Amino acid sequence: MDHFLYRDGALFAEDVAVADIAAAVGTPFYVYSTATLLRHFRLFDEALEGMDHLVCYAMKANSNQAVLRTLAQAGAGMDVVSGGEYRRARAAGVPGERIVFSGVGKTREEIRTALEGGIRQFNVESEPEMAVLDATARALGKVAPVTIRVNPDVDAKTHAKIATGKSENKFGIPIARAREVYRMAAAMPGLEVVGIDVHIGSQLTDLEPYAVAYRKVAELTGVLRADGHEIRRLDLGGGLGIPYERSNADPPLPSDYGAMVKRTLGHLDCEIEIEPGRLIAGNAGLMVSEVIYVKSGEGRDFLILDGAMNDLIRPAMYDAWHDIIPVAEPAAGVERAPIDVVGPVCESGDTFARQRMMPPLAAGDLVAFRSAGAYGAVMASEYNSRPLIPEVLVHGDQFAVIRRRPSFDEMINRDTIPEWL
Ligand code: LLP
Repeated sequence: MDHFLYRDGALFAEDVAVADIAAAVGTPFYVYSTATLLRHFRLFDEALEGMDHLVCYAMKANSNQAVLRTLAQAGAGMDVVSGGEYRRARAAGVPGERIVFSGVGKTREEIRTALEGGIRQFNVESEPEMAVLDATARALGKVAPVTIRVNPDVDAKTHAKIATGKSENKFGIPIARAREVYRMAAAMPGLEVVGIDVHIGSQLTDLEPYAVAYRKVAELTGVLRADGHEIRRLDLGGGLGIPYERSNADPPLPSDYGAMVKRTLGHLDCEIEIEPGRLIAGNAGLMVSEVIYVKSGEGRDFLILDGAMNDLIRPAMYDAWHDIIPVAEPAAGVERAPIDVVGPVCESGDTFARQRMMPPLAAGDLVAFRSAGAYGAVMASEYNSRPLIPEVLVHGDQFAVIRRRPSFDEMINRDTIPEWL
C-alpha cells in the first residue's frame, strides 16, 4: 500500500496534488511519500516484534538526507556500503552504533572512517578484508565488531544481476569454509566476532530461498558456538521484493517474512538485523515526467517523455517493469492502446516500456512511474548532459524540495580545462 492515489481525477501524493508539484519544480522529478516510507519501515519493525532486532535500512536504495532522517527518527539503523554512505548516514543523524557496514571492497580509508566515527559492526566478506580490518583496528587501538558474510549457495530466483547468494557470485565466503575463517578471525586481536551475516539477493518474491539460507545459518550457528565462538547476532540481509506490476503480483509481506525468520531462527536467542532497502523506499516514490511528443511510427507509436534512462535506469538495466500512470486520471472505460514509452536519450535502450497499454495522452500531459523510490534517483547519471532531476518529499499537505535541480552552469563548471588548452 502507498499514499499515491487519485482524488477527484487527479493523482495525489498524500495530500498534495502531483500536478502542483510539477508546476512548482518542473519535470522530470522524483517525489517521495513520508507516510509510505514510515509505514514500510514499521511493517518490518512489527514483523520482528518479540525478537531483539534492528531494522537497518539499506540506504543504497535511496540515500537522500531527508529520507534517511525520516527513517532514523523512526528508529531505523542503516546498512551502508561505502565511506560516502557512512558519511551520509552520520550527516542525517544516525549514530554509529546503529550503522552496519556491508560490501565486498571496503578500502582501508573507509574502514578507518567507520572505526573512528563509530560502527555497530562490519560485515566482512573475505579473508584479505579481515586481515586489513584487523590491522587497521589495531593501529587505531580499537577492536572492530564483525560478522562474517557467508555465501549459502542458494538460488534466490531473481534477476541474475541482483542475485548474490550463489557460489559463483562475488559475495561472502563459502559456507563450507566458515569454520576455518571464524577460527582465523577469533585469533585476530583487532576483531571481535559477534555473529553471522547473509544476504542472498534482491527483489525476491518467494520466501523459500530465504528459508533454505536461514536454516543453513541456524545450523552454522550451532556449529560455530560448539567451536567456542560467541554468535549473538544474525544479520539476515535484505531483498524482499515489491509488486512492480500491480495487476500481476503478490509478493510475500513483511509479516510473512518475519514469521519465517522466527520459525527458522527464533530458537537461537540471537539479536536479528535485517537490511531492507527496496521494500521501504520503492513504493514510496514516483518519477513524474511530461510527454514531449507522441510520435507515430510504422506499425508502432511512441510516447516520448522528458524523463530518460539516465534518470531511471532500471528498465534499461534489468528489463524492469514500472507501472506508468497518467497524473490526470483517465475517464472510466477509456480505450487503451499499445505504445512504446521512451525517453529522449540517443540510444534504443532508452525505452521504459514496449507496447504498454496506455490511455490516450498528448504533449504536455504528465505521467508517473510507480515504484521508483528505490534505485531510482541514486542510480541516476547526467548522461547526454541532462542534469540530475530534483527530489521532493511530501508530508501530509506539505512538500519540500529535498534535492534541487542543478543549473546547467553548475553541471558544466564541474569540469576544468587544463592550462595548455
Ligand atoms: N543488503 C545487502 C548486502 C545488499 O547488497 C542489498 C542490495 C540490500 C541489503 C538491500 O536489498 P533490497 O532490500 O533493496 O532488495 N539496483 C538494483 C538492486 C541492487 C541491490 C543491491 N544490493 C535494482 O534496481 O533492482
